[in-house]
Amino acid sequence: MSEAAIHACRRNRLINQMQRGIAVIPTAPEVFRNSDTHYAYRFDSHFHYLTGFDEPEAVLVLIAGAEPQSILFCREKDAERETWDGFRHGPEGAKERFGLDAAFPIAQLDEKLGALMGNQPALFLPLGAHASWDDRILALRAGVQAKARSGISAPNEIHDIRMLLDEMRLIKDEAELGIMRRAAAISSAAHIRAMRATLPEKMEYEIEAELLYEFRRSGAQAPAYTSIVAGGGNACVLHYIRNDARLRDGELLLIDAACEIDGYAADITRTFPVNGRFTGAQKDVYELVWSAQAAALAAALPGAYWNQPHEAAVRVLAQGMIDLGLCRGNLEDVLENGSYKRFYMHRTGHWLGMDVHDVGAYKLENRWRALQPGMTFTVEPGCYIRPADDVPQALWNIGVRIEDDVLITAQGCEVLTEAVPGTVSAIEELMGRR
Ligand code: GLY
Ligand code: MN
Ligand code: MN
Repeated sequence: MSEAAIHACRRNRLINQMQRGIAVIPTAPEVFRNSDTHYAYRFDSHFHYLTGFDEPEAVLVLIAGAEPQSILFCREKDAERETWDGFRHGPEGAKERFGLDAAFPIAQLDEKLGALMGNQPALFLPLGAHASWDDRILALRAGVQAKARSGISAPNEIHDIRMLLDEMRLIKDEAELGIMRRAAAISSAAHIRAMRATLPEKMEYEIEAELLYEFRRSGAQAPAYTSIVAGGGNACVLHYIRNDARLRDGELLLIDAACEIDGYAADITRTFPVNGRFTGAQKDVYELVWSAQAAALAAALPGAYWNQPHEAAVRVLAQGMIDLGLCRGNLEDVLENGSYKRFYMHRTGHWLGMDVHDVGAYKLENRWRALQPGMTFTVEPGCYIRPADDVPQALWNIGVRIEDDVLITAQGCEVLTEAVPGTVSAIEELMGRR
């Protein structure tokens, strides 16, 4: 299937679920960094999922019912602007290339949308995604309401289109999985490159540069999120992104980094010794987290509930924390009183897709949802030990997280990121060969 056909198919599925009414789905705005300089542009994920169109200033309009239509509003061709900023498809080119029923200049949006909304029973918007768009489209609806005396009615139901789109995006299709495998493969290669490049006395940012180099040389457009390159105790700061400290002999390095390619993210963490050999205490904590990872992966099965991998990981971690002298009491006490949360304070994963923390409900009718083939998510247990008087000193400043990306299949789960060494022996072997 061509890319245009894949997107048309997704639009048709959405239109069928809408049943009736009109949907208005804008892409993301450009964002100024300072003065007249923008941040690198990133389209809105929902908009791109339905169109494949990656220019800013564009809006998709879908009409459901007896005569379904997909209509794009986008920038016109402009020889002068294209000289400065690059190619624009223009409405004619976009209609052809992206398989739409019609396309118009974005400057005609208000006028045409007012007319398209007339007599539609329902309006679907990504409510709250881009606040200024909500206001603009609701003002257009008010304009249609003002025409009531001429017999034109405005949509009297307003729905959040994300309720439908989030669920569609939660189950990945073959095209999406193909891209996600590429994101995972490039990100895995970047972690291997980073392990090979790490040496005592280097700076964290030098290792970050190796990751970014591997992402870009492989065609990824950007990191999927700001890379965490955290030596020693910095690994105990969950969102450490300064990446400006020196790496010390005898410490661990935690790297949480991955790329985004063609709109899809990977999300990988590995933790390894700066000098290539784990100390005894580091190995104890590392192998505990590795066992938690294995337990969580074993629970990632079709039909299992979303919380089961997390609970499997927590059980292993809590027992390990008791054995290491970090928590006191028996396993059931530690699980019950939550004392393990001092050293493991986050959950074991999240949906992964176009967004690194992807869309989709985790609970349905207040119960954790069942895992299904086509769902992709991370499995990322950790253990973070800050210095404290009641903590064995040998464990101070050890922070470990191991994060892989998985796909639920009919039989179990496939680890998309297993190319990155994870066992103590595989890491020491790779780093010993440098
Ligand atoms: N890198 C973001 C996360 O692990 O959730
Ligand atoms: Mn993650
Ligand atoms: Mn991560």
